[in-house]
Amino acid sequence: MKHLLSLETLSRADMETILQNAVVLKRQRGDSQHKPLAGQTWALIFTKSSTRTRVSFEVGIRELGASVMFLSSNDIQLGRGEPIKDTARVLGRMIHGAVIRTFAQKDVEEFAAYGKIPTINALTDDEHPCQVLTDIFTFQETHGPIQGKVVTFVGDGACNMPISWVFAAAKLGFELRIAAPKAFQPPAEILKRAGGKIVVTEDLQAAAAGADLLYTDVWISMGKEAESAERIRQLTGYQINQSIVKLAKPGALVMHCLPAYRGKEIDEETFEANADTIFTEAENRLHVQKSILSWIVS
Ligand code: CP
Ligand code: NVA
Repeated sequence: MKHLLSLETLSRADMETILQNAVVLKRQRGDSQHKPLAGQTWALIFTKSSTRTRVSFEVGIRELGASVMFLSSNDIQLGRGEPIKDTARVLGRMIHGAVIRTFAQKDVEEFAAYGKIPTINALTDDEHPCQVLTDIFTFQETHGPIQGKVVTFVGDGACNMPISWVFAAAKLGFELRIAAPKAFQPPAEILKRAGGKIVVTEDLQAAAAGADLLYTDVWISMGKEAESAERIRQLTGYQINQSIVKLAKPGALVMHCLPAYRGKEIDEETFEANADTIFTEAENRLHVQKSILSWIVS
């Protein structure tokens, strides 16, 4: 039984399989007879908001031959305190796979352990593995293998996105630089566990110099709204804008997992100048997640 709960526990070989098969799935969309989920029913169980993840999984699961139901945790007994492990044991007897978006990483792990069905992390406070696999796929479509390249993450360096980037860097052999104020840098223990070439710095200009990919995410992740004022105070300045783009390698990509807050982590001009890449990145969620789903049931 396979799961995708974290990039830390996904092997390099499996990452490469997912990335390679996504190329074929993207090319063959529309005329594909590839239906590895035929006859199955999958559930999306979401405790947090979503546009891209929800739609790309719902469309992708259907295109692979299965039915899919969306369960907001507010609508099921989970929202009234029924334990994860009981929810998992009920659903595990009825459905064939689960895609979960929630707060605690341990909740998706517990669901996988008790549900005994393929389980995918669709974002927790700790990681967003489907997004980072998609980002790497998107980079490689135009810039070739990411191995040996320099990826610079700008902003809240301690949230789910940079942590998934940290685990990917060690596995795929690229340099990751994280530019963030001290209070928003990833825990040293995670960097130690991941290994690889990771530079964490408060110096945004130095981190951007010569980068192949500039990447950012919201300053205020879901669940952190009460900290908004303090986050804006500390993260102001950690923005991708034209002066930062000029420092990167000519032809460097600018990516954003979305949703984007103009004037905060990225300015309007830079966002719009890179909109084609950013919305291709959003579209690629569909192709890469179809590849993840195909791999997980194989
Ligand atoms: N990037 C991403 O996961 O977007 P959603 O929150 O809209 O799913
Ligand atoms: N770090 C963001 C990612 C959104 C896709 C959040 O958790 O809200």
